[in-house]
Amino acid sequence: MALSDFFLTIENSAVGTLIREGGPYFPFLESVHVIALTLVVGTILFIDLRLLGMAFRDLRITTLHKDLLPWTWGAFGLALVTGLLMFSATPQRYFDNTYIRIKFFFMLLAGVNMLVFQFITYRNVDKWDQGQDGIPTAARAAGAFSILLWGIVIFFGRWVGFTL
Ligand code: HEM
Repeated sequence: MALSDFFLTIENSAVGTLIREGGPYFPFLESVHVIALTLVVGTILFIDLRLLGMAFRDLRITTLHKDLLPWTWGAFGLALVTGLLMFSATPQRYFDNTYIRIKFFFMLLAGVNMLVFQFITYRNVDKWDQGQDGIPTAARAAGAFSILLWGIVIFFGRWVGFTL
């Protein structure tokens, strides 16, 4: 099945039709999407600021990480579900939109940045868990990149609705 046929099937499904044809569904989903993405980016920002020594300097990095990550992932799940539901209303139109492609590209880069931090840099966190002095450059760079990349994701996400 070609991608365009697949998109047509989704668009003509009961869910896609309901969300597309007016009513409160799309605005509801978009509002929940915004709440979810503020939680995703907000919780990540707390950790980024800690890595950069700009906030929560007295807290252990592992404590912040452990307490916040479940919120990040839960909210990401919500952003994913609401995003896909909005996408299902007019999939081909979204797929063809340059700004949504840029948004997903930078989301991918933000994900790679998180993976590198999580599986490489964070492995010896016990050495720099407390205080600010021992935080390695790689961890600080991950924090700075994260702020930049998620900022770009929000920037282009906002752009999509005006360019469809
Ligand atoms: C957590 C990461 C995400 C961020 C930071 C993000 C950011 C945004 C922003 C800022 C908007 C505009 C909201 C508004 O103008 O009211 C938006 C809308 C949207 N997002 Fe996301 N998003 C994320 C995840 C996703 C995912 C995983 C999908 C899945 C396909 C998705 C699909 C959409 C769609 C379809 C819209 C509606 C565009 C429109 O027609 O206005 N988003 N997003």
